[in-house]
Amino acid sequence: MHIAFVASEGVPFSKTGGLADVVGALPRALAGLGHQVSVYLPRYRQTKLSDPATVVRSITVPFDDKYRFASVVTGGSVAGVKFYFVEYPAFFDRDGLYGTSAGDYPDNAERFALFSRSVLEASKILGAPNLFHCHDWQSALLPVLLRTVYSEDPAFQETGTVFTIHNMGYQGLFPPDTLPLLMLPWDLFTISKMEFFGQVNFLKGALVYSDFVTTVSKKYSQEIQTAEYGFGLEGVLRDRAATVTGILNGVDYEEWSPQADKFITAKYSPQDLSGKAKCKKDLLAAFGMTSADFKLPLIGIVSRFAAQKGFDLIAQIMDRLAREEMIVVALGAGDKTYEEMFLRLNKQFPNKIAVKVAYDNALAHKIEAGADMFLMPSRYEPCGLNQIYSLKYGTVPIVRATGGLDDTIEPWDPRTGRGTGFKFSEYNGESLLLTVKEALQAFRDQTSWQALVRNGMSKDFSWNASAREYGKVYEKVKQIRAAGQATVEKVLV
Ligand code: ADP
Ligand code: GLC
Repeated sequence: MHIAFVASEGVPFSKTGGLADVVGALPRALAGLGHQVSVYLPRYRQTKLSDPATVVRSITVPFDDKYRFASVVTGGSVAGVKFYFVEYPAFFDRDGLYGTSAGDYPDNAERFALFSRSVLEASKILGAPNLFHCHDWQSALLPVLLRTVYSEDPAFQETGTVFTIHNMGYQGLFPPDTLPLLMLPWDLFTISKMEFFGQVNFLKGALVYSDFVTTVSKKYSQEIQTAEYGFGLEGVLRDRAATVTGILNGVDYEEWSPQADKFITAKYSPQDLSGKAKCKKDLLAAFGMTSADFKLPLIGIVSRFAAQKGFDLIAQIMDRLAREEMIVVALGAGDKTYEEMFLRLNKQFPNKIAVKVAYDNALAHKIEAGADMFLMPSRYEPCGLNQIYSLKYGTVPIVRATGGLDDTIEPWDPRTGRGTGFKFSEYNGESLLLTVKEALQAFRDQTSWQALVRNGMSKDFSWNASAREYGKVYEKVKQIRAAGQATVEKVLV
């Protein structure tokens, strides 16, 4: 099948979070299963292309005041996957992908509408796929366009759509006049389509119009059908529950494993862990903690600093945690409140808590390798990749039992020697503190700790199994489209 991925970021061309890791790796795994895969991304300032060539010179994108003209460049093929970039410098040649520290760009609706329309138009020239696989609100207009203004286009009569939710917390909410601005029909502004509490909701549009909706773990696919995690869209998902499923993200172990990692100071494996100690020293040095006691357990954090990630719980317990025998190193950027919180804690406890406010891929790898434990107390987590990376690096995850964190981490039981990490359920500081203390206590018994470390390292979350699951979803969509007016249920039995 020819699958076209449509997303706002993808490794190695652009990245702010885990979506980019998925878009960088899943297409390759699908190509390995025999699918023809192309990937469409915006061409940002940070997108580095070694040999760009324009493949579509001019695409007309209508806006209410004027037409805009985008082009498409190719970045060549990576492992059998073709990469295409929508070029429109006025929208994408900017410092950030979605905004600056002051907030989102005010023209994000126009930017990503232009992107989605350009992909549809370009694909008619470059080869219409059997299926568009779109990701998150930035490409959510594509399934809406396909089933509304493009519904009579002969190029797309059999084209299916799969939409993957990587995060329900970001929906693409814009004022009502966005619809006429983007030349979209007014009748989309109803509660059964894109209207959401007086605003236009891009994500909702995709949830209504896509043939199949997936999200990135089983647990999260259930959670988002409840009021606690659905961000107001739980009803929309429940209504179409037969075509909603969860497929766990995989990991690209060529990028993220201590045997292959090009950013770490010493490679290591489950058979020979000696390199991990060198990585720990190197990590402490990277944070300027050269005089720190090397024997103390080292807790790492790599994260977007966002409310989703549970930093309010960390704020509640840090004073007490700093009294324990341990060190915390944190890498992150985003919400000013949390940047300032970590900088303040570093001033208060310079030998215990260090922070680097930045986006730094090399340092993220060094933390995975050099830390003893990895902390991820998220309020919600669709999948989470860092805890899965941590397992492979023998860095024991401490997580809250939500979404993908719950699906990937098994609680350590010293009596049976089974389990891969530490989990707590209640979203409060006390539960987090108790669980971190439990991990610190377990660290004291180095013999059983080594067993725990090796349990994690032996887990395999490579993409193969999940890519096959996506393959099955694509097949179902093909049947749904071929059935035309036949009911979805008929296809699904
Ligand atoms: P999310 O997508 O919600 O941010 P994930 O755990 O799925 O969470 O993925 C986060 C990805 O982004 C990981 O690859 C992680 O290493 C990377 N990352 C997050 N923050 C930073 C940072 N400050 N510097 C470098 N890499 C980061
Ligand atoms: C999102 C989620 C994260 C997930 C990633 C990739 O950003 O917050 O949990 O791992 O997307 O699917």
